[in-house]
Amino acid sequence: MKTSLAEVIEPEVIEQGYLITRSDLKRHPYVIRSLDIRDLTAVMLLQRNVLVNMSNREYCVPILAEEIALMLEGDGDSVGLFIQDQLYAACFLLFKVPNENNMARELNFKDEELSLVSQLELSLVDFEMQGHKLQQKLAGILVQRAERRKNSKYIFTTVSPYNYPSIQTVTALGLQIAKLSKLYYDWDRYTVYKDLSQPIRLDIANPINVSNTAFVDQIQLLSNGYRGFSQFKDKDGIKIMFARVL
Ligand SMILES: CC(C)(COP(=O)(O)OP(=O)(O)OC[C@H]1O[C@@H](n2cnc3c(N)ncnc32)[C@H](O)[C@@H]1OP(=O)(O)O)[C@@H](O)C(=O)NCCC(=O)NCCS
Repeated sequence: MKTSLAEVIEPEVIEQGYLITRSDLKRHPYVIRSLDIRDLTAVMLLQRNVLVNMSNREYCVPILAEEIALMLEGDGDSVGLFIQDQLYAACFLLFKVPNENNMARELNFKDEELSLVSQLELSLVDFEMQGHKLQQKLAGILVQRAERRKNSKYIFTTVSPYNYPSIQTVTALGLQIAKLSKLYYDWDRYTVYKDLSQPIRLDIANPINVSNTAFVDQIQLLSNGYRGFSQFKDKDGIKIMFARVL
């Protein structure tokens, strides 16, 4: 009988620890491990649960099972957090992004550069587990592994200007906001990226802080050589921190 690779190789455990769930406020042991095609049903279930509970449907573009399957089968890298074999959080990076979906086209990258792009495609954290910076932990593992793999020069993703936890995650990982435009279903999106081989240096000692909803000001800064690199909240809402490229 033929045995598939997925049947013989057990996924590598990346991290273990304890987390407190929101509903019972008790500590539960968790495991973070790589995902493979055997996890597809659990990922689709998690995506459904997360999308149902989302406060703003513009935060996240759902991904089809076929696209997730491709990443689980080798076109990407993915990690998940489990408590007693139930998936509570997952994050996906796509390698070798097809030109038509390549976010670097938003920044007019040349064709030969598009093949050097990997994209963070989807992050999901079950409502029970939100607030533990799990998106940052899982996306951070994927970015580190991409850096070690050395087959991509750029990590791209897009983020809603209203998605505070996701802006937090991508800026903490060193991705910079380079464009603000309408994408997907005419939704507002930042295009963010990190150059892994030649990180772009910013004059962060002299930041300009702008409200996430002040689109004209942000677009003007971005077209004048500024990048968004961090954020904070004040009494009026989210402020994005911009700095000039050095
Ligand atoms: C985005 C998401 C993955 C982040 O979850 P997370 O890792 O638990 O978030 P964090 O722990 O980093 O939270 C950071 C901050 O955002 C807040 N936060 C987390 N989830 C939130 C939510 N759904 N709504 C509002 N605030 C949220 C946290 O309280 C925290 O606030 P603080 O810094 O003031 O303490 C999760 O909210 C989610 O699955 N959302 C729906 C899907 C989505 O938007 N995915 C990303 C695009 S594909």
